Amino acid sequence: MVYISPSILSADLLALKEQVLAAEQGADFIHIDVMDGHFVPNLTFGANMVKALKSFTSIPLDVHLMIEKPELSIAQYIEAGADIVTVHQEACTHLHRTLQTIKQLGAKAGVSLNPATPVSTLEHVMDVVDLILIMTVNPGFGGQTFIQSGLEKIKQAKQLIVKTGRSILLEVDGGITSQTAPLVVAAGADTLVAGNAIFAQKDIPKAIQLIRDSII
Ligand code: DX5
Ligand code: ZN
Repeated sequence: MVYISPSILSADLLALKEQVLAAEQGADFIHIDVMDGHFVPNLTFGANMVKALKSFTSIPLDVHLMIEKPELSIAQYIEAGADIVTVHQEACTHLHRTLQTIKQLGAKAGVSLNPATPVSTLEHVMDVVDLILIMTVNPGFGGQTFIQSGLEKIKQAKQLIVKTGRSILLEVDGGITSQTAPLVVAAGADTLVAGNAIFAQKDIPKAIQLIRDSII
């Protein structure tokens, strides 16, 4: 089973509701990229966006926090309706504690790695992780080119996950298309984020199907 998580970063904000409803035909999660203009050089949505989406969609919300000091606002995102909260390893001084807090507040706890961050940095938090997100672009923008070295990291993360014997999602984000999707799935990924390849396309359900068909 491979899950698809369309990223609203590439959606038309003036038609967001219609586009998310269109994505419901095929999507497993809706991916919300929260950027603070500090951790990444771009500024996007906050907890009120999560709340607005939650008001009309029943698809689980996959919230990717590209922000510094995420521990200060995790509770807000969960209260707003986030089902998965993913923080960046690079942004957390006390990563283990932050992941524990996410779980205690009732959401699934995800941790993301920038392209330059080794998978080994997660060895000692595997007991509290529900999702590992491997970035295959440098975070901050949609529509960038897939970084090939991410494939090796997906394989390494998969090995770490298998060793735990727990069910932990392995998500990939950045440059996912019908060309790169089969590569990341072959490497071990089970959850694919795609922005440009879904929301920048005219027919959103068809764009999701195209990615699905590429991995069968
Ligand atoms: C990038 C974001 C991604 C982004 C992916 O920093 O985390 O979720 O929306 O966009 P694409 O799929 O266009 O590379
Ligand atoms: Zn993302």
